Amino acid sequence: MPTVEWLKKEFHYGYDSGDVLSLIPNFRRFQEEQKIGGSYRKLFYQAVIPYMKPDSMVLELGPGRGSWSKAILKYLSSGKLQTVDFQDVSQWLKPEKYQGKLICHQVTDNSLSCITDSSIDFFWSFGVLCHNNVERIEEILKNALSKMKVGGFAVHEYADWKKLDNYGWERGKIPVSFQKLPDNEIWWPRNDRETMCQIATKSGWKVVNPDLGLVKRDSIIVLQKA
Ligand SMILES: C[S@@+](CC[C@H](N)C(=O)[O-])C[C@H]1O[C@@H](n2cnc3c(N)ncnc32)[C@H](O)[C@@H]1O
Repeated sequence: MPTVEWLKKEFHYGYDSGDVLSLIPNFRRFQEEQKIGGSYRKLFYQAVIPYMKPDSMVLELGPGRGSWSKAILKYLSSGKLQTVDFQDVSQWLKPEKYQGKLICHQVTDNSLSCITDSSIDFFWSFGVLCHNNVERIEEILKNALSKMKVGGFAVHEYADWKKLDNYGWERGKIPVSFQKLPDNEIWWPRNDRETMCQIATKSGWKVVNPDLGLVKRDSIIVLQKA
């Protein structure tokens, strides 16, 4: 199922994770946090804020309706956020409201050719790599590396089937039937910490931390362009 064609169609309605910074989560965010086993607010302050500065050039893959983008924009002064999604996210994120601080690119592949080489300080995604096959994640990581400034960080949430086994598939709301199906027929393709570290290293990234340990179901990797 997570072929590029499926990904392009599946999230056309604009995926929304709610306001990730509000002290009290709305119902949508509450449901997501129950499934993943962690707080999005805490995650933002521990997985995003330490890796970006107010003047950072930030790249976000797969913003959907922009729950994380809006939070990032609050913490950028002279910095800029560029988003890359198969969907036209400008209809939801309204870049015209941000005085040039937000640029939204609609793409058709994983080349990241719309992003200038050596321009990015921080590369972020949430709820994106977990829907991409390992081969595709490797392609994204490879293509992203040349877009980064030396010393720049990348932080990405990804599916971790070993963590999911411990946490519980039913609790995590991932269908148990996926265990018997090939990656191309499911929306939560196989991945784990070892595989992610292997493909990140192969793509030229330094693995700073394979999992920040902020949520119970998935993993969140920290990479750096050395
Ligand atoms: C589940 S939504 C998550 C949205 C948002 N990040 C959040 O957490 O609320 C996944 C989004 O990533 C986009 N997406 C998935 N794979 C992508 C890829 N390889 N390149 C660009 N966009 C992708 C989808 O179109 C969709 O908008």
